[in-house]
Amino acid sequence: MADQFNLDGKVVAITGASSGFGHHFAGVLAGAGATVVLGARREEKLAERVAEIVEAGGTAQACRLDVRDKDSIRQFIDTAFEQFGRLDVLINNAGVEAGAKTYAMIDEDDWDFVIDTNLKSAWMTSKYYTEQVMAHKQGGGNIIMISSITDTRTIKGQFPYAVSKGGLTRMTEVMALEAARYNIRVNALAPGYILTDVSRILLESEQAPEFVKGIPMRRFGDFEDLDGPILLLASDASRYMTGSVLTVDGGHICASL
Ligand SMILES: NC(=O)c1ccc[n+]([C@@H]2O[C@H](COP(=O)([O-])OP(=O)(O)OC[C@H]3O[C@@H](n4cnc5c(N)ncnc54)[C@H](OP(=O)(O)O)[C@@H]3O)[C@@H](O)[C@H]2O)c1
Repeated sequence: MADQFNLDGKVVAITGASSGFGHHFAGVLAGAGATVVLGARREEKLAERVAEIVEAGGTAQACRLDVRDKDSIRQFIDTAFEQFGRLDVLINNAGVEAGAKTYAMIDEDDWDFVIDTNLKSAWMTSKYYTEQVMAHKQGGGNIIMISSITDTRTIKGQFPYAVSKGGLTRMTEVMALEAARYNIRVNALAPGYILTDVSRILLESEQAPEFVKGIPMRRFGDFEDLDGPILLLASDASRYMTGSVLTVDGGHICASL
């Protein structure tokens, strides 16, 4: 059974791998046998992570990536195909937030920053990935979106972040429908709240102890809580899953408060 989760021979590219989830996923997936390609803007952080993975016996490659730049996206995907001959899994993980602001407080730059990074980029990377899967006659592929429970359940001050995640979940479903003809699966992971730079503003605020009471399991998540779910989506264990959104949140979206 464990073989289904094995990633030997698979190449996985992760956007936003310089910190937080992407940084963690790189180690988990490399540990399961995958060759990992790490993309982000902070190259020194990528280089450190690659060195750690190689030191642990894995195979990893860093590539500078700005997901708001089309040429940079192309270079990132091309690097995987050029270095390793294939790209089995693309994880659209890069994401930002605009601070604790409402729709009335954000300006056009905030909107563009968040929507371009979290939503438009996922379409652009997925589109170019699909083209390259076809061009290299790979026979299929796998796209994983890192959405969030804010796609359905949010609080004031998460605009336009929650809007971007709502769009990303919907993108997952529509893209799954359209990508099946290329034998490309598209699923999303929707985590609850885990402390990183994206969630720090809320999780380190005075509201945090009260906020955690709204989670049935009464705690925020840990990186390790995502290990099983990301391995499931990245591996053949999920071979009949497409268009699914996997929620990992300690029951948070089941609660009414
Ligand atoms: N933390 C949570 O509670 C939580 C919950 C649900 C979903 N998420 C989602 O998880 C994903 C990862 O976030 P995180 O929580 O791990 O926060 P994080 O530690 O701040 O990581 C965000 C990553 O995105 C990268 N990034 C940002 N803008 C980029 C750009 N223009 N081009 C390329 N990379 C870019 C950052 O790298 P550089 O700055 O080096 O480019 C960084 O590696 C996001 O999509 C976030 O919305 C987080």
